[in-house]
Amino acid sequence: MLFFLLLTVATVALGGHVVKRDATCTVHPSGNFTDDSPAIIEAFTLCGQGGNIEFINETYWIEKVMNTTGLNNVQIDLRGTLLWSAANISYWLENSLPLGYQNQSSAWFFGGNNITFDGHGFGTFDGNGQIWYDFTKGVSNLAGRPHALTIWETNNSTFKNIRFVQSQMWTMTLAYSSFVNMTDIFVSSTSNDSEPARNTDGADTLNSHHINFKRWEVHNGDDSIAMKRNSSDILIEDSVFYTGLGVAIGSIGQYPGEFEFVERVLTRNCSFMGTRMVGYIKTWTGVEQGFPPNGGGGGLGYVRDIAWTNSTLSGITQSPAEITQCTTFSGAVGQCDTSTLQISNITWSELSGSLLGSSIASIQCSGAAPCQDLQILDSNFILGGNATVGTYSCHAVASTEGFTC
Ligand SMILES: *[C@@H]1O[C@H](CO)[C@@H](O)[C@H](O)[C@H]1NC(C)=O
Ligand SMILES: *[C@@H]1O[C@H](CO)[C@@H](O)[C@H](O)[C@H]1NC(C)=O
Ligand SMILES: *[C@@H]1O[C@H](CO)[C@@H](O)[C@H](O)[C@H]1NC(C)=O
Ligand SMILES: *[C@@H]1O[C@H](CO)[C@@H](O)[C@H](O)[C@H]1NC(C)=O
Ligand SMILES: *[C@@H]1O[C@H](CO)[C@@H](O)[C@H](O)[C@H]1NC(C)=O
Ligand SMILES: *[C@@H]1O[C@H](CO)[C@@H](O)[C@H](O)[C@H]1NC(C)=O
Ligand SMILES: *[C@@H]1O[C@H](CO)[C@@H](O)[C@H](O)[C@H]1NC(C)=O
Ligand SMILES: *[C@@H]1O[C@H](CO)[C@@H](O)[C@H](O)[C@H]1NC(C)=O
Ligand SMILES: *[C@@H]1O[C@H](CO)[C@@H](O)[C@H](O)[C@H]1NC(C)=O
Ligand SMILES: *[C@@H]1O[C@H](CO)[C@@H](O)[C@H](O)[C@H]1NC(C)=O
Ligand SMILES: *[C@@H]1O[C@H](CO)[C@@H](O)[C@H](O)[C@H]1NC(C)=O
Ligand SMILES: *[C@@H]1O[C@H](CO)[C@@H](O)[C@H](O)[C@H]1NC(C)=O
Repeated sequence: MLFFLLLTVATVALGGHVVKRDATCTVHPSGNFTDDSPAIIEAFTLCGQGGNIEFINETYWIEKVMNTTGLNNVQIDLRGTLLWSAANISYWLENSLPLGYQNQSSAWFFGGNNITFDGHGFGTFDGNGQIWYDFTKGVSNLAGRPHALTIWETNNSTFKNIRFVQSQMWTMTLAYSSFVNMTDIFVSSTSNDSEPARNTDGADTLNSHHINFKRWEVHNGDDSIAMKRNSSDILIEDSVFYTGLGVAIGSIGQYPGEFEFVERVLTRNCSFMGTRMVGYIKTWTGVEQGFPPNGGGGGLGYVRDIAWTNSTLSGITQSPAEITQCTTFSGAVGQCDTSTLQISNITWSELSGSLLGSSIASIQCSGAAPCQDLQILDSNFILGGNATVGTYSCHAVASTEGFTC
């Protein structure tokens, strides 16, 4: 009898329901494809301050945006699948929650302090992405197309053992967050038809510091992991990246007159399997052409103290090391020497494995602020085709070590 008195059952709308026992909320899905998001939000409201939230081994159906920020001292156990509806595209285009950056937006804003989010190796986010890949038809950064998850204003927290499949757009963005560990994460966003799974970044950081990515496996069609504006002290290790673009810095410098930086990013002990690059940096031109999301430029700032090291390569499709300061509005060209964003102390070292072609480095820095201290050290590249000499193409590079342009 006492046992039953301690239970609270909150039934929300027609979807799933929450069973609360002490500070533990267990979310039960409707199981019949009615929207479970009200029940999920209810669980965070009831147990998101010093409690536990449990998702059982079933499928949860999500038709609406969720905003569960400001959590504290909470553990989330995801043992089932969160499956996002994409039936109503116009709902998402109109209602995705804005990040306040590059017109990017998200299906779920999640965050707080001292959070442990554990997927136990099978808890899954499924963004139903194929519908989005087909809908966007390759259009870059379609405004309103939601990211799967935004980790927002989060501190001192851990996300582990989680699977993310078929993300709607960027898989997850860590924004305004610090001291967060992302461990044992599997990401796979691939298209099963001729429309590319474009803009399906594995993870992005924005105004975030002291972030560790450890033991990731990413299969996707864009940046494997990308550090965007104002990111520092990032470690990426023991991970394997398939088919995407590799680990990116940027793009930054898209907003005229705004100061942005990325520094102290270390990628080590990883494998790059058929990715386009290993490590690359991109900044917008110094001249504004068009407006975000897909135009802009004229930003200020710097990128420095970045390294990709001790990693294995297999069939890199373009070139392991790349820099461009020539990112510009789709269709616009030129102004490649105008960016004043200073790039310095960038290292690619102890990389070994095969390339499809002969390009080792493709470096297009800006004449207005030539790159300084670019290093390619202690590496062993097996060139593709019949190439016998690796190529290093450079523009506006002030100093190099380990290679000549
Ligand atoms: C779906 O399940 C919920 C209970 O979880 C129920 O209230 C609702 O009527 C069901 N809807 C349909 C269409 O069967
Ligand atoms: C989850 O449930 C499915 C059946 O719906 C089962 O095949 C699977 O083994 C379960 N997973 C775990 C980890 O219990
Ligand atoms: C962090 O949250 C856990 C519960 O998930 C709690 O046991 C622990 O005391 C919290 N730590 C601090 C410093 O509040
Ligand atoms: C789809 O979403 C739009 C915008 O929120 C809404 O007006 C419309 O009623 C929804 N359609 C369906 C079939 O639910
Ligand atoms: C999320 O909810 C918080 C608290 O209500 C609010 O301050 C914040 O603006 C919301 N975020 C978004 C993106 O809607
Ligand atoms: C992007 O956001 C800006 C303001 O934040 C707005 O003026 C502009 O219309 C948006 N662009 C698109 C394509 O939605
Ligand atoms: C961070 O979390 C850990 C483990 O939950 C806890 O021991 C530590 O006190 C927390 N630190 C802060 C500053 O909240
Ligand atoms: C993240 O991992 C680092 C290195 O293992 C550890 O020192 C730190 O305490 C961890 N942070 C959290 C929030 O668990
Ligand atoms: C975040 O946590 C770290 C320790 O893990 C602490 O030093 C820092 O002050 C915290 N920041 C905020 C904004 O709470
Ligand atoms: C280099 O990376 C491999 C894993 O790819 C790891 O086993 C080895 O310990 C790393 N070497 C150093 C010196 O960290
Ligand atoms: C260059 O960056 C590395 C980290 O990649 C750092 O350890 C080193 O101190 C930096 N060198 C200078 C001269 O700042
Ligand atoms: C390599 O050279 C052989 C002989 O000249 C030629 O038949 C072949 O097409 C070349 N392969 C590539 C990838 O260029």
